[in-house]
Amino acid sequence: MDIINQPLQMQQRALAEKRAGRTISFVPTMGYLHAGHLSLLEEGRRRGDVLVLSIFVNPTQFGQGEDFEDYPRDLERDQALAAQAGVDIIFAPGAREMYPSGYATYVDVEGITETLCGASRPGHFRGVTTVVTKLFTIVQPDVAIFGEKDFQQLAVIRRMTADLNLPVKIVGMPIYREVDGLAMSSRNVYLTPDQRRQALVLSQSLHEARTMVASGHNDAAMIIRQVQIRISAQPDARVDYVRICHCLTLEDQSVVDENSVLLLAVFVGQTRLIDNAVLVAAQ
Ligand code: PAJ
Repeated sequence: MDIINQPLQMQQRALAEKRAGRTISFVPTMGYLHAGHLSLLEEGRRRGDVLVLSIFVNPTQFGQGEDFEDYPRDLERDQALAAQAGVDIIFAPGAREMYPSGYATYVDVEGITETLCGASRPGHFRGVTTVVTKLFTIVQPDVAIFGEKDFQQLAVIRRMTADLNLPVKIVGMPIYREVDGLAMSSRNVYLTPDQRRQALVLSQSLHEARTMVASGHNDAAMIIRQVQIRISAQPDARVDYVRICHCLTLEDQSVVDENSVLLLAVFVGQTRLIDNAVLVAAQ
């Protein structure tokens, strides 16, 4: 496994791999790898000849007062996990390599970035789309794998890839969970044991909402109210949003159907957690 820090070196390697007729699959991350990331790498291993993992805590997607400084980092542990997962190349640039002085170019996706996490975290998706475009240009992937855990991010990346005619196939992977249901996240390490217990309210309320839908309820406002009540019963939980949206447009829906996804963002203490689920069980 090779570790490359310089964008130009990574790009030259990628172009050489492609000239040799090899396909590149790519998993972009901010590191501190967990089993959710590993499930993406496993899919990437299957889908390309050369598997590239990027590890870059991208400063432009963090807002003022967010956790950029505190974001967990452990490159040594990530390297060991990546090697086990069959990664061929880790691309781990520094912020100065990605955003040298004088840097002035950003990618902005309109519409679907303005709701949900985009409304709560202004500028966040501009940072994500900018860095993902740069990473695609540097890594030259045929296939890039993203998690449905960040449901809106995946929708935004799909929109951007289509709009800019980027020659990359975008693959979405299901949310990987702890045995008790908590969606895996690098940010779960921020939770105290008591907050960790309270954080189960996210996956539990998604489950409850799916049960309501299975038993015939389809009034989105009523389901949302139930979920809000359930979350607010946890002493350290504060709802950022609870919404039922169309899975492609992310527009709010008033009646649940097979396209409905329930999206949650909840602060547990200082930690902002997200989770989501489609509401109608697949046949
Ligand atoms: P990060 O939060 O490290 O996530 C990297 C990828 O792993 C994303 O596609 C995310 O959706 C996926 N992922 C995270 N938790 C998951 C889980 N429990 N199950 C399945 N997939 C999961 O998302 C980012 O980094 C950044 O925004 C990035 C795209 C790298 C741009 O900086």
